Order: sequence, then C-alpha cells, then structure tokens
Amino acid sequence: MTPKQRERFAADVIGGLQCSPKTLPCKYFYDARGSELFEAICQTAEYYVTRADLALHEAHLAEIANCIGPNAHVIEFGSGAGIKTRKLLAALDRPRAYTPIEISAAALKRSAKELTQAFPDIEICPVRADYTRPIDDEALALDPPASRRVVYFPGSTIGNFTRDEARDFLVRMANIAGPKGAILVGVDLIKPRERLEAAYDDEDGITAQFNLNLLLRLQNDLGATLNLDDFAHEARFNDEARRIEMHLKAERDTVIELNGQRFKLAAGETIHTENSHKYSVSDFRELAETAGLASTRVWKDPEGLFSMHWLEKAKPPAGTTEG
Ligand code: TRP
Repeated sequence: MTPKQRERFAADVIGGLQCSPKTLPCKYFYDARGSELFEAICQTAEYYVTRADLALHEAHLAEIANCIGPNAHVIEFGSGAGIKTRKLLAALDRPRAYTPIEISAAALKRSAKELTQAFPDIEICPVRADYTRPIDDEALALDPPASRRVVYFPGSTIGNFTRDEARDFLVRMANIAGPKGAILVGVDLIKPRERLEAAYDDEDGITAQFNLNLLLRLQNDLGATLNLDDFAHEARFNDEARRIEMHLKAERDTVIELNGQRFKLAAGETIHTENSHKYSVSDFRELAETAGLASTRVWKDPEGLFSMHWLEKAKPPAGTTEG
C-alpha cells in the first residue's frame, strides 16, 4: 500500500468505528490474503453460490446466447478472468467486442491477454475503472458500432448493495447499455436461514478467517493494537432486510487502538462488515421495475439455488404516448 492508500484506509476504519453500530468497509477484505481466502470460500461445501452460478451458465448458455444475438458488444463488470466469461464468449454468435471493466490494472491486463489469445477473432477492449462509479462513454464506443450492448454482471455481487443502491446501480447499467441494450445480472435466491447461514459460516472456518482478516489488516497495515482472540466471526440472517449480515463479534470487553484513538467494544458488541441481500424472482423483478427495467427472462441452476435475470428497458405502459 502507498502512504496515501494507508491514510485513506485508516480514515475509513476510524469513520466506521465511530459509527453506532460500528462498521468496517467491506472493500478492504480483498488484500492478497483476503483474495486467496475468498477463492477458498468458493471451494467449500457450504458456499453454493459459485458452483450454482456456473451450473446455471452450463445449463442455459445456448438460450442466453440466443437472447444476446449476433454482433453484440458484451461489457462485463469485473475482470472477466473467470471460466463463465470464456463459456459465454464461446457460445455467442459472432460477437462484435468484449469489454471487461476492472479496477485492478494487473487483473485487467492478465485477463485481456488471456482472452485475446483464446478468442483471436473477438475485439477485446479492456477499460480500467471502478465500475461502482460513472464510466466514461467514450471508452465504450466502437467503430463501427455493435448491434447492441449487453452489460454482463454474473456472480452475487449485486446482493452486496442495499436495495436502494442496487436500484441505482441497475439504472447506471441501463444507461451504459443504452436504449437497445440489455443487462444480464446474477442474483442469489432467498432460501431457508440455515442454508444461508451455513454458506457464510463454513465448518472449516474459512469464511471466519476471511472476515477476521480485516482485523489482521488493521494490525499489519495500519499498526492498530487489538487482540484478535477477542473477536469471532458471525453470519446472521436478518429476516426483515432479507440479507445475510457478516459481523465481527467481541467475545469479551475489548479495545481497538488506532492512531492514538481508543475504540471500546463491550462483550457481545459487533462490528458489521458486509451484507449479502437475497431475492426471490418476483422480489428482484419488482426492484428492476423501479429502475425502469423489465425482467423478461429468468434462468436458474438445476438445483434452483441461484438466478440470472435478462433485463431490458421497460416499454411505457399502454395508453401513454411518448415524445
Ligand atoms: N459476493 C459474495 C456474496 O455475498 C461475497 C462473499 C461471500 C462474502 N462470502 C463472504 C463477503 C463472506 C464477506 C464475507 O456471496
């Protein structure tokens, strides 16, 4: 980390610990160790999301490719390094171009190189940017243009936003896709509490290590003083908000010291680190409607654990005139 990044990190941590209830920003999960642990989470028996998403792609790729149609510009939010992207690109009818949008220059470069080799006939146009912020449309322009743009956002990341944030995010994706465009977005399905809590609190404790890694980073990257053994990972389903919440729970009274400031935690108090919202098909369809989008196709994996929506600009209701 550069001194500037460290300063930003410390300010974000202090801001979160001053809140009531206390929070820590989830974007700091993914240092090198965090990224490795996340890979390991995806291999656990309990975390079904990654496997279900892949199974969904395998089961429905032909139909998905058919919806996308020929000569399309696929714009992925993420590096495109995964196996799903390759499967999708291989299934498409003469795709015009593929753009991964990714914040990490190294990840972007690697995936662009690999995809160029694997798909010599597809124009690969990487864009380095934070996809949670507005994207410069120039960077996405093609000459000649594609038949349409399709914004591709697989995985369950949309669940990490609140419902309001997810709606705003859908609006932004729709603006990028344009009037003839479409959005292909992965959405994890709501299911019984036990199944969800297990998925975010595996037997081997990998998810626990992943969550606790945030505290390790406070120690190692920021020089904070804290007792790691005083904290435990907790995944709890919040019924009302329909989300899994990740917390770091103080098992006894304890203190975190950072830059001369002391943050006290009472036994049982938690630091909220992440949310993963879960949707039924109709729940997500309603959310999309509030963003002016119609969910015209929905696919699920064969076990019915995970879904992917095909969203298009909603037509104005019958009887209204445009212009
Ligand atoms: N997007 C993933 C999800 O919500 C991220 C994730 C999986 C995660 N397990 C986690 C985030 C544990 C924090 C803690 O499913």
